[in-house]
Amino acid sequence: MSFFTSLTKRSLSQTAAMSAAIKNVTVIGSGLMGAGIAQVAAQTGHSVTMVDIDEVAVTKAQKRISDSIQRVAKKKFGGEVEEATKFVSESVARLTTSTDAVASVSSADLVVEAIVENLDVKKKLFAELDKAAPSHTIFASNTSSLSIAKIADATTRKDRFGGLHFFNPVPVMKLLEVVRIPETSQDTFEAMRDWGKAMGKVTVECKDTPGFIVNRLLIPYLMEAVRLMERGDASAKDIDVAMKLGAGHPMGPLELLDYVGLDTGKFILDGWHENDPDRELFQPSPLVDKLVTAGKFGVKSGEGFYKYDKK
Ligand code: CAA
Ligand code: NAD
Repeated sequence: MSFFTSLTKRSLSQTAAMSAAIKNVTVIGSGLMGAGIAQVAAQTGHSVTMVDIDEVAVTKAQKRISDSIQRVAKKKFGGEVEEATKFVSESVARLTTSTDAVASVSSADLVVEAIVENLDVKKKLFAELDKAAPSHTIFASNTSSLSIAKIADATTRKDRFGGLHFFNPVPVMKLLEVVRIPETSQDTFEAMRDWGKAMGKVTVECKDTPGFIVNRLLIPYLMEAVRLMERGDASAKDIDVAMKLGAGHPMGPLELLDYVGLDTGKFILDGWHENDPDRELFQPSPLVDKLVTAGKFGVKSGEGFYKYDKK
Protein backbone atom coordinates (compact mmCIF):
# COMPACT_ATOMS: atom_id res chain seq x y z
CA MET A 1 0.00 0.00 0.00
CA SER A 2 2.70 2.45 1.02
CA PHE A 3 4.73 1.37 -2.05
CA PHE A 4 1.75 2.13 -4.31
CA THR A 5 1.24 5.54 -2.66
CA SER A 6 4.86 6.54 -3.07
CA LEU A 7 4.89 5.36 -6.69
CA THR A 8 1.75 7.37 -7.40
CA LYS A 9 3.25 10.40 -5.70
CA ARG A 10 6.43 10.03 -7.68
CA SER A 11 4.74 9.71 -11.03
CA LEU A 12 2.51 12.65 -10.20
CA SER A 13 5.47 14.83 -9.26
CA GLN A 14 7.35 13.68 -12.38
CA THR A 15 4.36 14.68 -14.50
CA ALA A 16 4.26 18.06 -12.74
CA ALA A 17 7.97 18.55 -13.36
CA MET A 18 7.57 17.59 -17.03
CA SER A 19 4.62 19.91 -17.53
CA ALA A 20 6.59 22.71 -15.85
CA ALA A 21 9.53 22.42 -18.29
CA ILE A 22 10.29 25.87 -19.65
CA LYS A 23 10.48 26.15 -23.44
CA ASN A 24 9.30 29.66 -24.36
CA VAL A 25 11.12 32.48 -22.65
CA THR A 26 10.48 36.23 -22.81
CA VAL A 27 13.33 38.45 -21.64
CA ILE A 28 12.34 42.06 -20.95
CA GLY A 29 15.24 44.49 -21.28
CA SER A 30 17.93 44.17 -23.92
CA GLY A 31 20.75 45.92 -22.07
CA LEU A 32 23.89 44.25 -20.74
CA MET A 33 22.00 41.58 -18.84
CA GLY A 34 18.87 41.05 -20.92
CA ALA A 35 20.90 40.48 -24.10
CA GLY A 36 23.15 37.99 -22.30
CA ILE A 37 20.22 36.08 -20.78
CA ALA A 38 18.39 35.98 -24.13
CA GLN A 39 21.54 34.79 -25.89
CA VAL A 40 22.24 31.94 -23.50
CA ALA A 41 18.58 30.87 -23.50
CA ALA A 42 18.63 30.72 -27.32
CA GLN A 43 21.97 28.87 -27.32
CA THR A 44 20.52 26.23 -25.01
CA GLY A 45 17.53 25.44 -27.21
CA HIS A 46 14.82 27.76 -25.87
CA SER A 47 12.52 29.82 -28.00
CA VAL A 48 13.24 33.41 -26.94
CA THR A 49 11.63 36.82 -27.36
CA MET A 50 13.83 39.73 -26.26
CA VAL A 51 11.97 42.98 -25.58
CA ASP A 52 13.00 46.58 -24.95
CA ILE A 53 11.13 49.90 -24.97
CA ASP A 54 14.05 51.37 -26.86
CA GLU A 55 14.47 50.17 -30.45
CA VAL A 56 18.08 51.40 -30.55
CA ALA A 57 18.86 49.24 -27.51
CA VAL A 58 17.45 46.20 -29.33
CA THR A 59 19.61 46.86 -32.38
CA LYS A 60 22.73 47.29 -30.23
CA ALA A 61 21.86 44.11 -28.33
CA GLN A 62 21.57 42.12 -31.57
CA LYS A 63 25.09 43.21 -32.52
CA ARG A 64 26.47 42.30 -29.06
CA ILE A 65 24.74 38.92 -29.18
CA SER A 66 26.06 38.20 -32.65
CA ASP A 67 29.66 39.01 -31.54
CA SER A 68 29.33 37.05 -28.32
CA ILE A 69 27.79 33.96 -29.94
CA GLN A 70 30.73 33.82 -32.35
CA ARG A 71 33.11 33.77 -29.38
CA VAL A 72 31.09 31.03 -27.69
CA ALA A 73 31.01 28.98 -30.90
CA LYS A 74 34.76 29.36 -31.37
CA LYS A 75 35.38 28.14 -27.83
CA LYS A 76 32.87 25.28 -28.12
CA PHE A 77 33.76 23.97 -31.58
CA GLY A 78 37.34 25.18 -32.14
CA GLY A 79 38.23 24.60 -35.81
CA GLU A 80 35.02 22.71 -36.69
CA VAL A 81 33.68 25.53 -38.85
CA GLU A 82 30.53 23.75 -40.08
CA GLU A 83 29.42 22.81 -36.55
CA ALA A 84 30.18 26.31 -35.29
CA THR A 85 28.21 27.95 -38.12
CA LYS A 86 25.24 25.62 -37.49
CA PHE A 87 25.32 26.41 -33.75
CA VAL A 88 25.32 30.16 -34.43
CA SER A 89 22.57 30.11 -37.07
CA GLU A 90 20.30 27.79 -35.06
CA SER A 91 20.76 29.88 -31.91
CA VAL A 92 20.02 33.14 -33.71
CA ALA A 93 16.94 31.58 -35.38
CA ARG A 94 15.47 30.86 -31.92
CA LEU A 95 15.65 34.54 -30.95
CA THR A 96 13.08 37.15 -31.95
CA THR A 97 12.84 40.75 -30.79
CA SER A 98 10.01 43.08 -29.93
CA THR A 99 9.24 46.48 -28.43
CA ASP A 100 5.81 45.37 -27.18
CA ALA A 101 6.22 43.76 -23.76
CA VAL A 102 2.53 42.97 -23.27
CA ALA A 103 2.17 41.15 -26.60
CA SER A 104 5.44 39.27 -26.07
CA VAL A 105 4.25 37.25 -23.08
CA SER A 106 1.19 35.60 -24.66
CA SER A 107 2.86 32.19 -25.00
CA ALA A 108 5.68 32.55 -22.46
CA ASP A 109 6.42 29.81 -19.94
CA LEU A 110 8.86 32.15 -18.21
CA VAL A 111 9.35 35.92 -18.20
CA VAL A 112 12.75 37.16 -17.02
CA GLU A 113 12.79 40.90 -16.37
CA ALA A 114 16.14 42.70 -16.75
CA ILE A 115 15.15 46.38 -17.03
CA VAL A 116 16.40 49.40 -15.10
CA GLU A 117 17.03 48.86 -11.34
CA ASN A 118 14.01 50.85 -10.15
CA LEU A 119 11.24 49.36 -8.01
CA ASP A 120 8.37 51.48 -9.34
CA VAL A 121 9.31 50.88 -12.99
CA LYS A 122 9.62 47.12 -12.42
CA LYS A 123 6.28 46.99 -10.54
CA LYS A 124 4.50 48.90 -13.29
CA LEU A 125 5.86 46.48 -15.91
CA PHE A 126 4.91 43.34 -13.98
CA ALA A 127 1.40 44.67 -13.21
CA GLU A 128 0.81 45.03 -16.96
CA LEU A 129 2.34 41.63 -17.79
CA ASP A 130 0.29 39.93 -15.07
CA LYS A 131 -2.91 40.79 -16.92
CA ALA A 132 -1.58 39.59 -20.28
CA ALA A 133 0.39 36.41 -19.50
CA PRO A 134 -1.21 32.94 -19.32
CA SER A 135 -1.85 31.65 -15.81
CA HIS A 136 0.99 29.09 -15.94
CA THR A 137 3.66 31.71 -16.80
CA ILE A 138 6.39 32.12 -14.20
CA PHE A 139 7.68 35.66 -13.58
CA ALA A 140 11.25 36.28 -12.45
CA SER A 141 13.30 39.40 -11.85
CA ASN A 142 17.04 39.66 -12.44
CA THR A 143 17.24 42.56 -9.97
CA SER A 144 20.65 43.04 -8.35
CA SER A 145 19.39 44.37 -5.06
CA LEU A 146 15.67 45.10 -4.86
CA SER A 147 13.23 43.05 -2.82
CA ILE A 148 11.65 40.31 -4.95
CA ALA A 149 8.63 40.34 -2.61
CA LYS A 150 8.05 44.06 -3.23
CA ILE A 151 8.21 43.56 -7.00
CA ALA A 152 5.89 40.52 -6.79
CA ASP A 153 3.37 42.64 -4.86
CA ALA A 154 2.39 44.19 -8.20
CA THR A 155 1.04 40.83 -9.41
CA THR A 156 -1.61 38.28 -8.53
CA ARG A 157 0.80 35.35 -9.00
CA LYS A 158 3.18 35.43 -6.05
CA ASP A 159 3.29 31.61 -6.06
CA ARG A 160 4.72 31.82 -9.60
CA PHE A 161 7.22 34.59 -8.85
CA GLY A 162 10.91 34.48 -7.90
CA GLY A 163 14.34 35.90 -8.53
CA LEU A 164 16.77 34.67 -11.19
CA HIS A 165 19.97 36.63 -10.66
CA PHE A 166 22.53 36.23 -13.43
CA PHE A 167 26.05 37.67 -13.60
CA ASN A 168 27.76 39.82 -16.19
CA PRO A 169 28.88 38.67 -18.77
CA VAL A 170 26.07 36.09 -18.77
CA PRO A 171 27.59 33.85 -21.49
CA VAL A 172 30.73 33.45 -19.37
CA MET A 173 29.76 33.63 -15.69
CA LYS A 174 28.68 30.22 -14.46
CA LEU A 175 26.55 31.20 -11.45
CA LEU A 176 22.81 31.73 -11.16
CA GLU A 177 21.23 32.73 -7.84
CA VAL A 178 17.69 31.35 -7.58
CA VAL A 179 15.67 33.38 -5.10
CA ARG A 180 12.38 32.45 -3.51
CA ILE A 181 9.91 34.52 -1.52
CA PRO A 182 7.71 32.82 1.10
CA GLU A 183 4.86 32.52 -1.44
CA THR A 184 6.99 30.95 -4.23
CA SER A 185 5.58 27.44 -4.76
CA GLN A 186 7.89 24.44 -4.72
CA ASP A 187 6.95 23.71 -8.38
CA THR A 188 7.90 27.26 -9.37
CA PHE A 189 11.17 27.09 -7.49
CA GLU A 190 12.07 23.75 -9.08
CA ALA A 191 11.08 24.95 -12.56
CA MET A 192 13.32 28.04 -12.18
CA ARG A 193 16.22 26.01 -10.81
CA ASP A 194 15.89 23.33 -13.52
CA TRP A 195 15.75 26.01 -16.19
CA GLY A 196 18.95 27.51 -14.74
CA LYS A 197 20.64 24.13 -15.05
CA ALA A 198 19.29 23.74 -18.62
CA MET A 199 20.96 27.12 -19.30
CA GLY A 200 24.25 25.48 -18.25
CA LYS A 201 24.51 27.44 -14.99
CA VAL A 202 25.45 26.29 -11.51
CA THR A 203 22.56 27.32 -9.28
CA VAL A 204 22.60 28.42 -5.66
CA GLU A 205 19.49 29.10 -3.59
CA CYS A 206 19.02 32.23 -1.53
CA LYS A 207 16.24 33.90 0.42
CA ASP A 208 14.97 37.33 -0.60
CA THR A 209 17.66 39.24 1.32
CA PRO A 210 19.25 42.50 0.01
CA GLY A 211 21.95 41.67 -2.55
CA PHE A 212 21.32 37.93 -2.18
CA ILE A 213 24.73 36.26 -1.71
CA VAL A 214 27.15 37.74 -4.23
CA ASN A 215 26.13 41.41 -4.25
CA ARG A 216 25.78 41.59 -0.46
CA LEU A 217 29.51 40.83 -0.34
CA LEU A 218 30.63 42.39 -3.64
CA ILE A 219 28.98 45.85 -3.63
CA PRO A 220 30.37 46.96 -0.21
CA TYR A 221 33.83 45.82 -1.41
CA LEU A 222 33.48 47.82 -4.66
CA MET A 223 32.31 50.90 -2.76
CA GLU A 224 35.19 50.63 -0.28
CA ALA A 225 37.52 50.78 -3.29
CA VAL A 226 35.81 53.99 -4.46
CA ARG A 227 36.21 55.47 -0.96
CA LEU A 228 39.93 54.60 -0.95
CA MET A 229 40.23 56.56 -4.18
CA GLU A 230 38.00 59.43 -2.97
CA ARG A 231 40.22 59.88 0.10
CA GLY A 232 43.27 60.03 -2.18
CA ASP A 233 44.82 56.98 -0.49
CA ALA A 234 45.59 55.32 -3.84
CA SER A 235 44.98 55.86 -7.55
CA ALA A 236 42.30 53.93 -9.50
CA LYS A 237 45.01 52.13 -11.47
CA ASP A 238 46.94 51.09 -8.37
CA ILE A 239 43.79 49.89 -6.59
CA ASP A 240 42.91 47.73 -9.61
CA VAL A 241 46.44 46.38 -10.07
CA ALA A 242 46.59 45.60 -6.35
CA MET A 243 43.41 43.52 -6.30
CA LYS A 244 44.29 41.67 -9.52
CA LEU A 245 47.83 40.79 -8.51
CA GLY A 246 47.41 40.68 -4.75
CA ALA A 247 44.05 38.92 -4.51
CA GLY A 248 43.87 37.09 -7.84
CA HIS A 249 40.70 38.85 -9.05
CA PRO A 250 40.17 38.88 -12.84
CA MET A 251 39.30 42.60 -12.71
CA GLY A 252 40.09 45.31 -10.20
CA PRO A 253 37.13 46.85 -8.31
CA LEU A 254 37.00 50.08 -10.31
CA GLU A 255 37.28 48.22 -13.62
CA LEU A 256 34.49 45.96 -12.42
CA LEU A 257 32.26 48.89 -11.41
CA ASP A 258 32.78 50.35 -14.90
CA TYR A 259 31.89 46.92 -16.35
CA VAL A 260 28.73 46.48 -14.23
CA GLY A 261 27.64 50.09 -14.93
CA LEU A 262 28.06 52.96 -12.47
CA ASP A 263 24.35 53.79 -12.87
CA THR A 264 23.42 50.27 -11.78
CA GLY A 265 25.95 50.44 -8.92
CA LYS A 266 24.46 53.74 -7.77
CA PHE A 267 20.86 52.42 -7.97
CA ILE A 268 21.87 49.46 -5.80
CA LEU A 269 23.66 51.56 -3.18
CA ASP A 270 20.96 54.26 -3.05
CA GLY A 271 18.28 51.62 -2.46
CA TRP A 272 20.19 50.04 0.41
CA HIS A 273 21.03 53.45 1.90
CA GLU A 274 17.36 54.45 1.84
CA ASN A 275 16.39 51.29 3.75
CA ASP A 276 19.30 51.43 6.22
CA PRO A 277 20.56 55.07 6.36
CA ASP A 278 22.90 54.58 9.35
CA ARG A 279 24.97 51.77 7.90
CA GLU A 280 28.42 53.11 7.02
CA LEU A 281 28.98 50.60 4.18
CA PHE A 282 25.84 51.81 2.39
CA GLN A 283 26.66 55.57 2.39
CA PRO A 284 26.40 57.16 -1.08
CA SER A 285 29.62 58.04 -2.86
CA PRO A 286 29.96 61.68 -4.04
CA LEU A 287 32.35 60.51 -6.78
CA VAL A 288 29.97 57.87 -8.18
CA ASP A 289 27.07 60.35 -7.96
CA LYS A 290 29.12 62.92 -9.89
CA LEU A 291 30.10 60.45 -12.63
CA VAL A 292 26.53 59.20 -13.05
CA THR A 293 25.14 62.75 -13.19
CA ALA A 294 27.66 63.46 -15.96
CA GLY A 295 26.41 60.39 -17.91
CA LYS A 296 29.64 58.51 -17.23
CA PHE A 297 28.24 55.03 -16.65
CA GLY A 298 31.38 53.04 -17.44
CA VAL A 299 32.00 50.72 -20.40
CA LYS A 300 28.49 51.05 -21.85
CA SER A 301 28.64 54.87 -22.15
CA GLY A 302 32.32 55.07 -23.10
CA GLU A 303 33.62 56.54 -19.81
CA GLY A 304 33.51 55.87 -16.08
CA PHE A 305 36.64 55.65 -13.96
CA TYR A 306 38.39 54.88 -17.26
CA LYS A 307 37.73 55.68 -20.96
CA TYR A 308 36.50 53.04 -23.47
CA ASP A 309 35.49 52.72 -27.10
CA LYS A 310 31.76 53.45 -27.13
CA LYS A 311 29.67 50.18 -27.31
N1 CAA B 1 30.65 36.58 -24.62
C1 CAA B 1 31.21 35.38 -24.87
N2 CAA B 1 32.43 35.04 -24.43
C2 CAA B 1 33.11 35.95 -23.73
C3 CAA B 1 32.60 37.24 -23.44
C4 CAA B 1 31.30 37.54 -23.92
N3 CAA B 1 30.72 38.73 -23.70
N4 CAA B 1 33.50 37.93 -22.70
C5 CAA B 1 34.54 37.11 -22.53
N5 CAA B 1 34.33 35.92 -23.15
C6 CAA B 1 35.16 34.75 -23.17
C7 CAA B 1 36.27 34.90 -24.18
O1 CAA B 1 35.90 34.33 -25.43
C8 CAA B 1 37.43 34.16 -23.56
O2 CAA B 1 37.34 32.79 -23.86
P1 CAA B 1 38.71 31.93 -23.97
O3 CAA B 1 39.33 31.96 -22.62
O4 CAA B 1 38.28 30.59 -24.39
O5 CAA B 1 39.52 32.66 -24.99
C9 CAA B 1 37.19 34.30 -22.05
O6 CAA B 1 35.81 34.66 -21.89
C10 CAA B 1 38.08 35.38 -21.47
O7 CAA B 1 37.82 36.62 -22.17
P2 CAA B 1 38.93 37.72 -22.52
O8 CAA B 1 40.24 37.04 -22.81
O9 CAA B 1 38.38 38.65 -23.54
O10 CAA B 1 39.03 38.61 -21.26
P3 CAA B 1 39.36 38.26 -19.79
O11 CAA B 1 40.22 37.06 -19.65
O12 CAA B 1 39.79 39.55 -19.21
O13 CAA B 1 37.93 37.89 -19.18
C11 CAA B 1 35.95 38.45 -18.05
C12 CAA B 1 36.85 38.74 -19.26
C13 CAA B 1 35.34 37.06 -18.20
C14 CAA B 1 34.86 39.49 -18.08
C15 CAA B 1 36.81 38.53 -16.74
O14 CAA B 1 37.53 39.73 -16.71
C16 CAA B 1 35.98 38.42 -15.49
O15 CAA B 1 35.60 37.34 -15.05
N6 CAA B 1 35.72 39.59 -14.85
C17 CAA B 1 34.90 39.65 -13.63
C18 CAA B 1 33.46 39.62 -14.00
C19 CAA B 1 32.57 39.66 -12.79
O16 CAA B 1 32.98 39.69 -11.65
N7 CAA B 1 31.25 39.63 -13.05
C20 CAA B 1 30.25 39.74 -12.03
C21 CAA B 1 29.83 41.18 -11.88
S1 CAA B 1 28.65 41.40 -10.60
C22 CAA B 1 27.20 41.02 -11.32
O17 CAA B 1 27.10 40.70 -12.47
C23 CAA B 1 26.01 41.06 -10.42
C24 CAA B 1 25.28 42.33 -10.30
O18 CAA B 1 24.08 42.26 -9.97
C25 CAA B 1 25.90 43.65 -10.45
P1 NAD C 1 21.06 48.28 -18.85
O1 NAD C 1 20.97 49.73 -18.51
O2 NAD C 1 22.22 47.79 -19.64
O3 NAD C 1 19.74 47.83 -19.67
C1 NAD C 1 18.44 48.07 -19.22
C2 NAD C 1 17.52 48.04 -20.44
O4 NAD C 1 16.16 48.03 -19.99
C3 NAD C 1 17.69 49.26 -21.36
O5 NAD C 1 17.97 48.82 -22.68
C4 NAD C 1 16.34 49.97 -21.29
O6 NAD C 1 15.95 50.57 -22.50
C5 NAD C 1 15.42 48.83 -20.92
N1 NAD C 1 14.18 49.22 -20.26
C6 NAD C 1 14.02 50.15 -19.28
N2 NAD C 1 12.72 50.21 -18.90
C7 NAD C 1 12.05 49.28 -19.66
C8 NAD C 1 10.70 48.85 -19.74
N3 NAD C 1 9.76 49.37 -18.96
N4 NAD C 1 10.38 47.88 -20.62
C9 NAD C 1 11.32 47.33 -21.44
N5 NAD C 1 12.63 47.70 -21.40
C10 NAD C 1 12.98 48.66 -20.53
O7 NAD C 1 20.92 47.51 -17.46
P2 NAD C 1 21.53 46.06 -17.06
O8 NAD C 1 22.90 46.24 -16.58
O9 NAD C 1 21.22 45.10 -18.15
O10 NAD C 1 20.63 45.73 -15.79
C11 NAD C 1 19.31 45.26 -15.91
C12 NAD C 1 18.87 44.64 -14.60
O11 NAD C 1 19.76 43.56 -14.27
C13 NAD C 1 18.89 45.60 -13.41
O12 NAD C 1 17.87 45.24 -12.53
C14 NAD C 1 20.26 45.31 -12.79
O13 NAD C 1 20.32 45.64 -11.43
C15 NAD C 1 20.37 43.81 -13.00
N6 NAD C 1 21.73 43.26 -13.04
C16 NAD C 1 22.76 44.00 -13.60
C17 NAD C 1 24.04 43.42 -13.64
C18 NAD C 1 25.19 44.17 -14.25
O14 NAD C 1 26.35 43.76 -14.08
N7 NAD C 1 24.98 45.24 -15.00
C19 NAD C 1 24.24 42.13 -13.17
C20 NAD C 1 23.15 41.41 -12.63
C21 NAD C 1 21.91 41.99 -12.57
